Amino acid sequence: MTFPAESLRLFCRQLLTSLGTSEAHAQIVGDSLVAANLRGVDSHGIQMLLVYIQQLRAGGINVPAAGRVVREDGVFLRYDGENGLGQVVADQCTDHSIRIAKAMGISVVVTNHSNHFGAGAWWGEKLARAGFLAIVTSNACPAVAPWQGKTAILGTNPLCVAVPALGGAGRWLLDMATTTVALGKLSHAAHLNQATIPKEWGFLDSTGQPTTETAAAQRGAPTPIGGYKGTAFAMLAEILSAGLSGGAMATELPVYRTGGDPLGISHCFIALDPKRLLPAGEFETRVGRFVDLVKAAEPAPGYEEVLVAGEPEWRCEKIRMAEGIPVPSKLWAKFTTVAAELGVTPPRPDAAE
Ligand SMILES: NC(=O)c1ccc[n+]([C@@H]2O[C@H](COP(=O)([O-])OP(=O)(O)OC[C@H]3O[C@@H](n4cnc5c(N)ncnc54)[C@H](O)[C@@H]3O)[C@@H](O)[C@H]2O)c1
Repeated sequence: MTFPAESLRLFCRQLLTSLGTSEAHAQIVGDSLVAANLRGVDSHGIQMLLVYIQQLRAGGINVPAAGRVVREDGVFLRYDGENGLGQVVADQCTDHSIRIAKAMGISVVVTNHSNHFGAGAWWGEKLARAGFLAIVTSNACPAVAPWQGKTAILGTNPLCVAVPALGGAGRWLLDMATTTVALGKLSHAAHLNQATIPKEWGFLDSTGQPTTETAAAQRGAPTPIGGYKGTAFAMLAEILSAGLSGGAMATELPVYRTGGDPLGISHCFIALDPKRLLPAGEFETRVGRFVDLVKAAEPAPGYEEVLVAGEPEWRCEKIRMAEGIPVPSKLWAKFTTVAAELGVTPPRPDAAE
């Protein structure tokens, strides 16, 4: 089934407001989730809303909260998310990040007591559009064993780095889980009824053995990207997010999807103004040239071209803006059930925007 982005945005807003969120907060969450779907990042698109709805219904989120500034000191700002919706907290933090970086050339904004903020790219791109090189991290509920360990201690802790672009066309945007793939890719595969997943996704079954069976992986766990280096990157994201914000770390966070417990997630947003180092526009030009140099590599056997981070998603975005967003019927069935319970009419799948 395919839906125009706008009808999914409206549907998300209606579901959220039916649970008591303000229209403005519902818009921030809905827009960011649908943007992930447009970019092909279905792991962090509307399927996440079902999890948020579960939390909201269980009383696990402070519905009206947008958080508050705890301390501001020069380029630094510490925020308390007060258990508000993760996207609402992240939106406030990135507004502060832009304000401070405009005045001071750099900003470091951290928050604790937040919730899942969706795809890092939405926040990285917001800062990059304002002209800053952005580094965005978050911790997440424990789901991954550290390298050489067996117990799930760390989250899939995302790391996003975005750079400003000339004329609005991004050239490089890294947005990744610190596990081989995001956990949500597995749920998406299950929603598509895919019995198997690629070996490269690196999932383990419940006994700790590598598996390509979707159901077995769902009972198991993801693995850190690139072995011990992935665990180090996950720890880096945790140190920047929870370490600096005073938030809960690793197993101090509850296991995700428990519903009523505040998750206590932390995020970090760093914005740097390249104009403080180079004449306006020169950094953006240099990044463009650098990307061209990398893409000039002769493709390896089996590939038609070299891609850089951000390209697959920007290409998908163009297609889905024109053709609509495909939603697996299994996922849609869950949404129609929840919508009926909340008295919301789901949109009809139909023509693209
Ligand atoms: N909020 C959270 O708690 C949380 C946790 C984990 C992940 N996430 C999100 O999950 C999403 C998906 O993460 P993922 O790691 O599965 O993404 P991914 O593996 O699909 O992509 C990771 C990065 O690799 C780049 N890439 C993909 N193919 C490429 C190629 N052929 N050549 C060059 N670069 C390429 C992408 O542009 C992207 O920047 C992200 O948006 C991330 O922020 C969020």
